[in-house]
Order: sequence, then C-alpha cells, then structure tokens
Amino acid sequence: MTPPGTIAIETRGLTRNFRRFTAVDEVSFQVERGEVFGLLGANGAGKTTTIRMLTGLLRPSRGEAWVVGVPVHSSPEKVKRQLGYMSQRFSLYEDLTVGENLTFFGGVYGLPGSEIRQRKEELLDLFDLDGLADRITSSLPTGHRQRLALASALIHKPQLLFLDEPTGGIDPRSGRCRYDRHGDHPLHG
Ligand SMILES: Nc1ncnc2c1ncn2[C@@H]1O[C@H](COP(=O)(O)OP(=O)(O)OP(=O)(O)O)[C@@H](O)[C@H]1O
Ligand SMILES: [Mg+2]
Repeated sequence: MTPPGTIAIETRGLTRNFRRFTAVDEVSFQVERGEVFGLLGANGAGKTTTIRMLTGLLRPSRGEAWVVGVPVHSSPEKVKRQLGYMSQRFSLYEDLTVGENLTFFGGVYGLPGSEIRQRKEELLDLFDLDGLADRITSSLPTGHRQRLALASALIHKPQLLFLDEPTGGIDPRSGRCRYDRHGDHPLHG
C-alpha cells in the first residue's frame, strides 16, 4: 500500500461517452508523485479526452478520478490552479507577444504582478527565449512556440504538468541541457 499523499493521480473506471460513442472506457490507473507517466495509444484512442477529464475541463460520464488529492469528478474547479496543461491544439495567443502570453497565463492562474515579472524572467532564461519577449508569437518558429507554450504552462509552478503531444518541433537535446545547467527540472522547482 502506498501511503496517502504520495499519489498524484488515481482513476477508477473513468469513462466518457459522446452520445452513444464511448471515447474512454473504464480506465483505472495510478500515478505516484515524482513519476513520469505516459499515455500511449493510436489516434482517437482517448488520450486527450482522458487528460481533459483529469484537468477538470470535461465531466466524466462515469467513474472517479483524484488528481493531487482533489476529486475531479465532483470538484473540477478545485484542481485547476494545481495543474499545468499544455494542450494538443490551443496553447498560446498567436497575436500577443511572447511576454504578453506569459503575463496572460500568470494572470489566469492568479499570480500577483511582481511574481509574474519574476517568473517571466526565469522562464525566458530557462527555455532559451531571452530577448524574444517583444516578438509576436505567430512569428516564432515552431520549436520556440512549443517552448513558450511549455513555459506558460509552468508559470504558476504547478504540482503536476499534463503534456498532450508536446514534442512536435521541439529540440529535446537543447531542452535537457538547459535543465542540467540549472541543476533542476522545472517540475521540481
Ligand atoms: N467533443 C467530442 N465530441 C464527440 N466526439 C469526440 C469529442 N472529443 C473526442 N471525441 C472522439 O473521441 C475519440 C477519442 O478522441 P481523443 O481526442 O481523446 O483521442 P486521442 O487519443 O487524443 O487521439 P490523437 O492521438 O489523435 O490526439 C475520437 O474518436 C474522437 O473523435
Ligand atoms: Mg489527442
């Protein structure tokens, strides 16, 4: 038995129907804190739908899910500030600058202005986006955009980060080098 508090995610029989179609069918799993957990499946397997339920964006049809101790099946609003979510489709406002996107997401998560300014500096540095704060997001190459999306998802230092197919265009080697140089990973900061 794992003691309470060490479990990041637990689902029991999590199910989502869209009319008569079952997109997620009785999914049960457990993820411990500190664990990196991957959902693998073919296109349409139900990965994004599962993540949307775990992040409180979509109500399960049946079943239960606890995320960082919060029962998201009954209290989806309570979990949102604890989580970062880099979604598969939408993650950034294309017509805002890099800096404005970070400020916007800091505001969404309720950070005070002083903390937003500090986190912006840290994240621009960590993700090698220094000097790009005033660039319009739509003008960035894909890899930079993905890094900015990741930075935006981490601005409030979430306990748990959901990444839905985040690797398109990103350079894993440069990302890893940056974490090593700083001696920590953004998730454990
Ligand atoms: N809002 C919705 N209304 C109706 N059907 C939906 C809705 N959202 C998802 N589906 C359907 O549910 C199934 C699972 O979709 P989902 O996006 O969760 O899959 P996925 O595993 O993330 O796929 P991909 O690898 O393509 O991202 C698909 O058949 C999809 O068409
Ligand atoms: Mg998906």
